[in-house]
Amino acid sequence: MSEHDFVGPGSPWFVQLGQLIVDPIGFLTGCRERYGDRFTLRLLGPKSPPLVFLSDPDEVGAVWGALAGALEFGKVTQVFLPLVGSQSLIMQQGDRHQRQRQLLMPAFHRESLLRQGELICQLTSDQMKDWRSGQAINIRQEMSQISLRVILEVVFGLVPGERYEALRSRLEKLLDQITDPLYSVQFFLPPLQQNWGTWSPWGRFQTQMAEIDDLIYGEMNDRRSQPVESLENRGDILSLLMLARDAEGEAMPDVELRDQLMTLLLLGHETTASSLSWAFYWVHRDPAILAKLRSETALLRAEPIALSEQPYLTAVCKESLRLKPIALIAQPRRVKETVSWNDRIYPEGTVLIPCILTAHQRSATYTEPKQFNPDRFIERKFSPSEFFPFGGGSRSCVGMALSLFEMKLVLATVLDTFEFESNLMDDVKADRRGITFVPPEAFRLTIV
Ligand code: HEM
Repeated sequence: MSEHDFVGPGSPWFVQLGQLIVDPIGFLTGCRERYGDRFTLRLLGPKSPPLVFLSDPDEVGAVWGALAGALEFGKVTQVFLPLVGSQSLIMQQGDRHQRQRQLLMPAFHRESLLRQGELICQLTSDQMKDWRSGQAINIRQEMSQISLRVILEVVFGLVPGERYEALRSRLEKLLDQITDPLYSVQFFLPPLQQNWGTWSPWGRFQTQMAEIDDLIYGEMNDRRSQPVESLENRGDILSLLMLARDAEGEAMPDVELRDQLMTLLLLGHETTASSLSWAFYWVHRDPAILAKLRSETALLRAEPIALSEQPYLTAVCKESLRLKPIALIAQPRRVKETVSWNDRIYPEGTVLIPCILTAHQRSATYTEPKQFNPDRFIERKFSPSEFFPFGGGSRSCVGMALSLFEMKLVLATVLDTFEFESNLMDDVKADRRGITFVPPEAFRLTIV
């Protein structure tokens, strides 16, 4: 890239950073409207390297593929370290990252997940058992509880009982706390990470984590004491990970297993719940879309696999993820050494950021991009560099198949049980909640 390729706001770095913190969606959308598919921000101090946000499918595709070898990942995930631990997949680089992914991925393949479909539908029905006509349902909260149960049962493989309840209540509390800006500030500022006993926030956090760890290690020990066949028959992700072996025949050490479980919990819980909340928001804005969806999924309730293969249900979930991606960007990548691609030069130190939010709003890719129109996913197939709510390349989302499967089953099961009226029929601004963007807190669906 030459200097003139670094087009973007001329304001000082701290003004740009302030705009991004206060209104990330408005700021990034505005920059793309003003400067086009590639714009550059300077956010990292007076000597900030150019942070180049990309929306053009050719360039995004190059980041996933042709340029990948010339790029490295930064330390943005460091803030998660106290929660996920140093052995977590998201803390690794290069070969070690690839090795861990190879161990994790088979457990997340669609074929492994299909066995869990009935369980997901059952958990959804259980969550609805106290819902009554006339009640205004806080969908985000309900989805969050379903999604936590899915993690506990499908990923951790726990069965309801004492340990399950102990872990559920502790994780629920922890996950709620970390979405509070005042509580989470300690993760961003290492000097605040001082354990001055249980009355200090960091001391309380460490006590909570120690209790959670005890429960997780207790579960692993119990499972180790059972015959291998019982692990093989269970089908949950922890059991599959305990059975997984790398190329040298080595199993994952317990600390690594624990760190991966915390990673999956942290990245898989609120994300799926938020995406589901948006899907509920969108389908209740348009009676024709809702009717079409219901007519496709009616009668399929007892057949999770068939449900998950329904084209319109799939299209509704994808269109919701397109219009309201809960992660605005894929992980930033830094150019290791100056490299050229397609007549363009990428100087060393430049940071490339595939921008999910703005790529999903391109009118050259999506006609009438602001419209919620699931049919576009039936009429056309979009490439992984046009539609990428789960990121792409070597660090793309591990839980993509699980979350899409869960979204479809939960959405269909709820719509098959109740009819609702929404209190939000117009365009709304997303609220930030932890690492995701959710519908406004006031969003309710009232059972009619
Ligand atoms: C709708 C729900 C979800 C969305 C939109 C989502 C989105 C993303 C995105 C954008 C990334 C970064 C990809 C990149 O930089 O290229 C990511 C990474 C990741 N996600 Fe998800 N995610 C979702 C659900 C889940 C679930 C259910 C799990 C696991 C249970 C999960 C586990 C992970 C992990 C482990 C990574 C890190 C991968 C790595 O560093 O190699 N996610 N996700």
